[in-house]
Amino acid sequence: MRLYIIGAGVIGRTHAEAAKKLSEPIQLHVADTNPEAVTSFCKQFPEAIGFTKVEEMLSSEAAQNDDIVIISTPPMAHFDPTKLALESGRHVLCEKPLAMNSSQAQEMVRTADKHDRLIGCCSVRFKGMPHMEAVKKLIRSGCLGDIYHVTFVNKWERSRSGIEYQPASRWFLDSAKSGGGVLMDWGPYDFATLNDILNPNVIEINSAWMVKPVTEIDPVDTLFDVETHVGASMTFNCDNHPIHVQYERASCAHGEGYVKAEIEGTLGSLRWTPFDSRQPVYRRYDKQGHFVEEQVEVGPRSEYTIFDNPLLHFYRKVKGLESHANVNQQALNNFRCIRSLYTAAKTGQKQTVDIAQNGVTI
Ligand SMILES: NC(=O)c1ccc[n+]([C@@H]2O[C@H](COP(=O)([O-])OP(=O)(O)OC[C@H]3O[C@@H](n4cnc5c(N)ncnc54)[C@H](O)[C@@H]3O)[C@@H](O)[C@H]2O)c1
Repeated sequence: MRLYIIGAGVIGRTHAEAAKKLSEPIQLHVADTNPEAVTSFCKQFPEAIGFTKVEEMLSSEAAQNDDIVIISTPPMAHFDPTKLALESGRHVLCEKPLAMNSSQAQEMVRTADKHDRLIGCCSVRFKGMPHMEAVKKLIRSGCLGDIYHVTFVNKWERSRSGIEYQPASRWFLDSAKSGGGVLMDWGPYDFATLNDILNPNVIEINSAWMVKPVTEIDPVDTLFDVETHVGASMTFNCDNHPIHVQYERASCAHGEGYVKAEIEGTLGSLRWTPFDSRQPVYRRYDKQGHFVEEQVEVGPRSEYTIFDNPLLHFYRKVKGLESHANVNQQALNNFRCIRSLYTAAKTGQKQTVDIAQNGVTI
């Protein structure tokens, strides 16, 4: 099978590593506009054929039905190579966030549909992990009763991409290159998770806010105009049943950092750590007026890591196998949730996102 990676940076290399774990030999190609990135990539993966022009790589051979192109460039360079790759007749797995804005994302999915290709998003990195599946199984079992409230908070005190994390990639800080801050960076995972677990038909974003708390090491040598702390009050309507979701995400905050994901129902609650599969899942319920807390049994950890998952899920989808990939309309829906939060924060107006049910497992 042939794999074409566009963007030979940090995450492009993790996809090349993941390709080694697929169940068939992979012919690896890479393109990056920076010749030094191509050289160092090909040094790390000597089997790769390197290019400095995307068009040249895509036209170097005729497309085959299961060719996969991975877009692992910064967000401002997702749209053009995605369109080129789809028009060349290949399936595309795009890094998160899917695009800079909703109209780009819509156009990308339209192009995929027109050419009968799949477009997937890497926001599914945490989907299918045993702790997530254990949470889903318990929800679907009905043992929590009617679910009415979810707390979903991931508040880190200092973990800004482009400053504390991966300081060499300053593009994270400039909204003209990244499309936004911590919401564009981590929101794709948050919504891929929430939508997978709650399976809503319609999401209402009742209110949202976003800010950039100031630190004494804020860079002055580069544009830094993205939010690092965001929150929202949402209602996930699941078959006409409302679930109230309190959402918060921060890569920089002066308040105390904490992580809390809790689902509350009329018969019990669940607590877990969505982005750390080593942490336990807890269930609470009532016994004679007192709460009982039990650790939930979770399946064995997978041999695949969060860096393997996007390609693994997408590869399975391309091969027509059961898969956790989010493709086409579903990838677009997840992205629309994120952009709607920006609109709600900017306008102060409630936003509504209709979620198509196709491809969603209930
Ligand atoms: N770094 C991470 O941990 C991480 C994790 C998950 C997802 N992502 C996502 O992956 C994407 C890339 O992030 P990264 O951290 O690997 O960035 P990076 O800065 O390490 O690398 C980006 C690479 O893309 C190349 N590039 C830029 N424009 C190009 C173009 N038009 N054509 C071809 N190549 C081009 C650059 O030269 C660079 O080598 C982003 O969307 C990011 O959100 C990153």
